[in-house]
Amino acid sequence: MGESIWTEAQLPEYAPLRTSIAADVLVIGGGMAGLLCARLLQEAGVGCVVAERCRIAQGVTANTTAKLTAQHGLLYHKLLRQFGKEVAQGYLQANLSALDAFRAMSREIPCQFQELPAYLYSLEGAAPLQRELRALEDIGYRPAWESRPPLPFPVDGAVKFPSQGQFHPLQFLQGILPGLTIYENTPVLSLEGTHAVTPHGRIRAQKVIVATHFPFLNRHGAYFLKLFQERSYVLALENAGDVGGMYIDAKSGGLSLRNAGSALLLGGGSHRTGKKSAGWEPLRAFARQYYPASRERAAWATQDCITLDGIPYIGQYSPKLPDIYVATGFNKWGMTSSMVAAQLLKDAILARPNAYAGVFAPQRPMLRKQLLVNGWEASVNLLTPTRPRCPHLGCALKWNPQEHSWDCPCHGSRFAENGRLLNNPATGDLPPQE
Ligand code: FES
Repeated sequence: MGESIWTEAQLPEYAPLRTSIAADVLVIGGGMAGLLCARLLQEAGVGCVVAERCRIAQGVTANTTAKLTAQHGLLYHKLLRQFGKEVAQGYLQANLSALDAFRAMSREIPCQFQELPAYLYSLEGAAPLQRELRALEDIGYRPAWESRPPLPFPVDGAVKFPSQGQFHPLQFLQGILPGLTIYENTPVLSLEGTHAVTPHGRIRAQKVIVATHFPFLNRHGAYFLKLFQERSYVLALENAGDVGGMYIDAKSGGLSLRNAGSALLLGGGSHRTGKKSAGWEPLRAFARQYYPASRERAAWATQDCITLDGIPYIGQYSPKLPDIYVATGFNKWGMTSSMVAAQLLKDAILARPNAYAGVFAPQRPMLRKQLLVNGWEASVNLLTPTRPRCPHLGCALKWNPQEHSWDCPCHGSRFAENGRLLNNPATGDLPPQE
C-alpha cells in the first residue's frame, strides 16, 4: 500500500519503555484518539503515558481524509427513528463540540485548518436527503439545501452543513505532542487489572484507556461481535481543481471528495475487509472521466471499525472492568470522533458528568441486524478449512490481490505477504506457514 500525503510531515520518534513506571492513566494506542486523550488529560493535571505498539499515528490517523464535521452521512434520520430525539441531538452536539475544540486548538497549531461546508449528496434521488434534512431540523439544526453543489458531475441535491472544517492531521499532532510522555515500539502484552505488561517493563496505572483502533481484550466487552472493519481507498490528484468543500455520497461505498493544498482527495470503494474489491480502479476510472488532465500523486487505503448502530463505543470497556475505558468504532468519522472520545473519557476519568456519555456508552443494547451478519461471517470463516488462519480467533484468511496482503473477513486483521501484522485486532505476526 502506498503512503498518504500526510506522512510528508515528520513526527518525532520516541524510545521504547525500558523500565517499570507508574502513571495516573495509561493510554494504549498512539493514534489521534489516544494522543488527544493524553493531551486533554494532561491539560487537566492528570499524569498520563501513551504506549504505542509501533510508531505513533501510523494507522488510520495517517490514512484519513481528515474531515472535521458533524455531518456523518445519512445518520440523523436513522438515529431519530431508532433511538429518539435525545440520542440524535446528543450525537450532533457532541460532534459540534468536537469541531469547536479542533477549531480552537488549530488557532494555535499551524495545521492547514480550513473552515468549509460539508455536503452530503445523492446520485439516487433527493428523497433520502430530504428525510435527513427534516430529521436535522427536528433536532434543532438548520442545514441548507443545495441543488447544485460545485461538483463536476450532476447530483440530485445535497444537504449542506456550513462552517465545518478540514486540516492536516499529522501537522495537528505535531502541535499537541510536546510535553506528552510517549513510548513507541512498546506493545502491551497483557493487562493485570490496570497494570500493563510490556516487553521491558510494567506500567502501573490507576486507569487505562484502550485506544488501539480495534480493542484487544477479547475476554471482555464482546467487541469482536459488536464491530467489523471496512477498507476504502483514496487517491490524491494534482491538477484536478477545487471543489470548494467536503463531500460524501449518501450511498454507502460512494465517493468522498475534498481538497488538500494543491491536491484533490478522492475516496471511495469501501467494502468489508477480507471481501473482494476492485481497489483503486473505480477511483482511477472516475478521475479519467471527470479530471482527464489530472495526475495521480499518491494512492493509499484505510481501514475503519464499524459499529452495529452507527454510534462509536466510547466509555467503560465492560461492566467488569470499571477502571478501563475504550474508544473505538468511529465509523469512518475518526477525527471528530477522536475528539468526542477525548472529551468524554477525560470527564469519565475525572468523575465529572458528561451530557453525552449515555449516547456513546459501549454497554447500550446491541440487538441489531448487523450482529447476525457479524456472527454469520465469523461462523462461515471459522468453518472454512483453508490456510493460513488468523491468529486473532482462528478464521480463514483471504488473499487480497490489490494490496498483496492476507485479510481476515471476521474482524479485519491484516498481514503482509511475509506474515507481518498490518492491522489489528490480531496482536502478532502470522506464524511461519508449513
Ligand atoms: Fe478475528 Fe481474524 S480478526 S479472527
